[in-house]
Amino acid sequence: MTFHITVDGRSVPVVPGQTIGAALHAAGVRSWRTTRFGGRPRGLFCGIGVCFDCLISVNGRPPERACLLEAEPGDEVTTA
Ligand code: FES
Repeated sequence: MTFHITVDGRSVPVVPGQTIGAALHAAGVRSWRTTRFGGRPRGLFCGIGVCFDCLISVNGRPPERACLLEAEPGDEVTTA
């Protein structure tokens, strides 16, 4: 049974146990922030918590790694 999270106001389905990064990838979202210099797109890269490319804000908290963060019902996610 899936549930949904909200990403910048868009509803994204989540399979229980999925990380936010995996849910975004499954929804076809490949990048959700840009680099400080050059504005290059970033999303999942290593997928294991090493590169920090996947930073994203959840429920107003400071940016965290989307590849390590398990999605919870009702999560409000914002990209930068
Ligand atoms: S994708 Fe590399 S830390 Fe998340």
